[in-house]
Amino acid sequence: MKSRRTVVVTGAAGFIGSHLSAALRRLGRSVLGIDNFDAFYERASKQANLERIGAVKPKIAQRHDAFQFIEADICDRQAIRAILERATPDVIFHIAALAGVRPSIAQPQRYVSVNVNGLVNVLEAARAVNCRRFIFASSSSVYGNHAKVPFSEDDRVDQPISPYAATKRAGELICQTYAHLFAMRIAALRFFTVYGPAQRPDLAISKFMRLIAEGREVPMYGDGSTSRDYTYIDDVIAGVIAAEKSLPADDSPAGFFRIWNLGSDHPITLIQMIDAIASVVGKPPRIKTMPMQPGDVERTWADITRSKAELGYHPTTSFEEGLLRQRSEKYG
Ligand SMILES: NC(=O)c1ccc[n+]([C@@H]2O[C@H](COP(=O)([O-])OP(=O)(O)OC[C@H]3O[C@@H](n4cnc5c(N)ncnc54)[C@H](O)[C@@H]3O)[C@@H](O)[C@H]2O)c1
Repeated sequence: MKSRRTVVVTGAAGFIGSHLSAALRRLGRSVLGIDNFDAFYERASKQANLERIGAVKPKIAQRHDAFQFIEADICDRQAIRAILERATPDVIFHIAALAGVRPSIAQPQRYVSVNVNGLVNVLEAARAVNCRRFIFASSSSVYGNHAKVPFSEDDRVDQPISPYAATKRAGELICQTYAHLFAMRIAALRFFTVYGPAQRPDLAISKFMRLIAEGREVPMYGDGSTSRDYTYIDDVIAGVIAAEKSLPADDSPAGFFRIWNLGSDHPITLIQMIDAIASVVGKPPRIKTMPMQPGDVERTWADITRSKAELGYHPTTSFEEGLLRQRSEKYG
């Protein structure tokens, strides 16, 4: 039997996928990254992300460590199957998706085809090559406008308020089905507004840092009281790696499906966030108040009791420290 050493990361050229690939490389794992450079934001940023992964020197160099990258679209069923047949991965970190709540309202078909059909293509290819360990990047958006806070994994999540959130919940349900039918071991990780160097340019922190630094107006949707459980990238990556370790070993016959919140349990209001960014940038913000956007939830707040107990997940980066690192592009 071929030995399985490679780990596959889809969405490897993106924000979270590139940090994850770099962290896996530091651990001496052989990583095969897949990404199609979706035009949601510019290719140059994603190329720079890939270059940073390629430059990582593993802490403990092993005979098989390497970073390889293939430009491919997860919607291309044959291509994904052929890639996985060659790689015979030990585990797949499925991070690729169309992210972003607001654009999903304008393009629901694209979101469903990448986030749902694309996921099924990757799961089917995984099944075909008998790769039974799988990590799925889900989202806090599945909680919708839940009144009860903090949000815990056992809460009902049947009222998404954007197509994006609905695709992420659909993804969780599909993963659960594959774990049941094909004895796969799958973790669905609900990320809570992740930030840090190389953050997606459409996300508020990276956008507001740019606008405040340039002395331009910052659009504040609503009265500033909405809140997010901002979570620093390195803390999230530690949680993703711990989740992989928590998947049962390959020889057990039963399937496994578990959801874990990866948040910080420390919500921050929009106005606090703008003030904190202004103080890191060293300029006063020029705020322009705008109406709340459809699809945006009022708040997110992760209950991380389960992740702490089962993964040993302990986010440690304060919001101020995380902003400073993002501002100075301090990686790893
Ligand atoms: N950033 C956050 O705060 C956050 C929060 C919750 C969930 N998530 C989820 O985490 C994952 C990563 O998010 P991110 O912020 O790094 O976004 P990102 O856009 O930086 O990364 C996603 C990557 O997937 C790639 N991709 C998109 N469509 C593809 C396709 N058809 N084939 C191959 N690759 C494709 C993109 O080119 C991109 O590089 C996504 O699944 C997202 O839904 C992110």
